[in-house]
Amino acid sequence: MRHFIQETDFDSSECTKLFELCKILKEERGQRTASNLNKQSWGLIFHKNSTRTRVSFEVGIYELGGQSVFLQQNTLQLERGETVADTARVLSRYLHGLIIRTGGHDTVLEFAHFGSIPVVNALTELLHPCQAYSDAFTLAERWCVGDDLMGSLQGRKVAFLGDTCSNVAHSWMMAAALFGMELVLAGPPRFEPGSSIKAMIAKADLPLTTTYTNDVAEAVKGADVVYTDVWTSMGKEGQAAQRLVAMQPYQVSQRVMSEAKPSAVFMHCLPAHAGQEVTQEVIESPASIIFDQAENRLHMQKAILCLLSELNQQT
Ligand code: CP
Ligand code: NVA
Repeated sequence: MRHFIQETDFDSSECTKLFELCKILKEERGQRTASNLNKQSWGLIFHKNSTRTRVSFEVGIYELGGQSVFLQQNTLQLERGETVADTARVLSRYLHGLIIRTGGHDTVLEFAHFGSIPVVNALTELLHPCQAYSDAFTLAERWCVGDDLMGSLQGRKVAFLGDTCSNVAHSWMMAAALFGMELVLAGPPRFEPGSSIKAMIAKADLPLTTTYTNDVAEAVKGADVVYTDVWTSMGKEGQAAQRLVAMQPYQVSQRVMSEAKPSAVFMHCLPAHAGQEVTQEVIESPASIIFDQAENRLHMQKAILCLLSELNQQT
């Protein structure tokens, strides 16, 4: 059974296929009825809030001919002590796939282990792979001049400012390694990503293409992309006050943008907190491509579900 739990769950040729499929699904949206998930039911177990991920998956599944079953985690018996192992085995008897947003990355791995249906990671504290893939596609569609969408990412520089330990930062570390991009993380001291994410990249036989600095100017110099995420991720609310102080020097402002390449774009996974990690001026500036990113969540996730379905039919 093939799953999509981390970026490296697809190899390079599968990624090429995925990006091409994403482009086609985007171009053909509304013109053609897709039936890749014909009469399938996909469950969405969400333990955390979501606007983009939930809505884009639910709409995407419908547009592929399937139906979604939204399962707020606190309404399941899971919340009353039923084990993940039993829940995964039961849900596998009803559903064709599971999309999970929760804190612990191990929980998603456990669902995949005990269930017999594909599992998609819709965000854990460790990773947000659907986000990183949609972001990479958003850049590829801007930069690609021929047919080689993935090739257009090679050698580009991304500066990620602020919470350099967030799930989105981790996912970008993996994506940068996978797509041959340079990633410079700029965050406060003690926010250097830990060894586990680096070990996962090494285990996938990919070179680490990420460096870490406390210096914003060094990070954004020559950058094609300036990226940021919220300073306080879901589950970290108890640290909000200290994070607000520590991350202040890493706010993306027009001054910071002016130190990147003149053609640099601004990216944010959203939701944004204007006045904290980014100024309203940057959000509204021509360099900002945040709503293209948000839109592409739909097209990329549809492509991921189609590819998973195809790969699992082959096995
Ligand atoms: N970027 C993202 O995953 O947004 P939501 O939390 O709204 O799903
Ligand atoms: N790092 C953020 C991403 C939200 C999409 C969080 O985990 O809250």
